[in-house]
Amino acid sequence: MSGSVFGRLFRVVTFGESHGPATGCVIDGCPAGLPLRKDDICRDLLRRRPGAGGVSTTRQESDEPEILSGVFEGKTLGTPICIIIRNQNQKSDDYDTLRDVYRPGHADWTWEAKYGLRDHRGGGRASGRETAGRVAAGAVAKVFLASLGVSVRAWVSAPEGLAQDAAGAAAGAAAGAVALAERLRAEGDSIGGAITCRVEGLPAGLGEPVFDKAGALLGQAILSIGACKGIEFGEGFAAQALRGSAHNDAILAPPPAGKDAFATNHAGGMLGGITTGQALEFRAAFKPTASIAAPQSTCDRQGRPRTLSVGGRHDVCIVPRAVPVVEAMAALVFADLALRQRAASL
Ligand SMILES: Cc1cc2nc3c(=O)[nH]c(=O)nc-3n(C[C@H](O)[C@H](O)[C@H](O)COP(=O)(O)O)c2cc1C
Repeated sequence: MSGSVFGRLFRVVTFGESHGPATGCVIDGCPAGLPLRKDDICRDLLRRRPGAGGVSTTRQESDEPEILSGVFEGKTLGTPICIIIRNQNQKSDDYDTLRDVYRPGHADWTWEAKYGLRDHRGGGRASGRETAGRVAAGAVAKVFLASLGVSVRAWVSAPEGLAQDAAGAAAGAAAGAVALAERLRAEGDSIGGAITCRVEGLPAGLGEPVFDKAGALLGQAILSIGACKGIEFGEGFAAQALRGSAHNDAILAPPPAGKDAFATNHAGGMLGGITTGQALEFRAAFKPTASIAAPQSTCDRQGRPRTLSVGGRHDVCIVPRAVPVVEAMAALVFADLALRQRAASL
């Protein structure tokens, strides 16, 4: 299957199905000599794991990463880094009813249209489980970026009951989130939400000016996350209603002045697809979880109408678990662009 590779110089392949033996990633192009500990990867995998915030699936897995190659005595070797995360808590029988039936809102119908067959157990590779490999690779990219003074941080910014502040703490009462989740579970329904991500410490000049603009690469990276339906930078869609005089950021100093070169940051940290040196901020919108217990109309492979109530374990809101995935994808984009910049200019 094509399309499982991301990046030009900091290049990542992810692999694995939800109910196969393991998922993971191979990173090719990570510079040698970077201090890398297993804990750097565990931390983000734990944040992606089911169980976050009382709104997620009860599939419990330790998500312990195993580094198979590319790291020796705590440092990257410059060789491919292979990380696997074994799948441990699959309950494939829960998915037997989905062998012949297509879930509304999920990828079952389109995968079958494309390949003529699919791994129905847990959604195969269209499962949220697929993001574990991204998070592992993103954790390595974050370590590389940290060595350049760049940090990547995301948080839930909607819906209200689940929203966090920029430090990742719950903005409202945690009890509110639990009550919301319980109500949704009782109704057999789900909700979506939004994630805000901020990348700080970026130098001015990252991003390639035509097809590989920083925003274009972020768009591909973030929209490739299952259930992500939109991304906006800076003022985003609201910019269409602003005047130029309100949207333009006044310039205070010539390059390479860095983050203090502009009076404001309506642009979101990029101009012409190239970073300005200010904080780069974007928001991503996620749709409600497709797999719901409430009855829905669908059909089976023979075309017979069916009413489906999706069993198994699903997040009533996937947004809290997608936070480290958003960070990982943003980190992969900037790790790659930072390496590409070394070849861009003398
Ligand atoms: C971290 C994460 C967890 C997810 N968990 C579920 C889930 O439990 N149930 C579900 O129906 N979809 C889940 N999804 C979303 C599906 O993967 C996604 O909706 C599906 O692949 C169809 O793709 P599309 O919604 O982008 O069209 C999850 C996504 C992410 C990023």
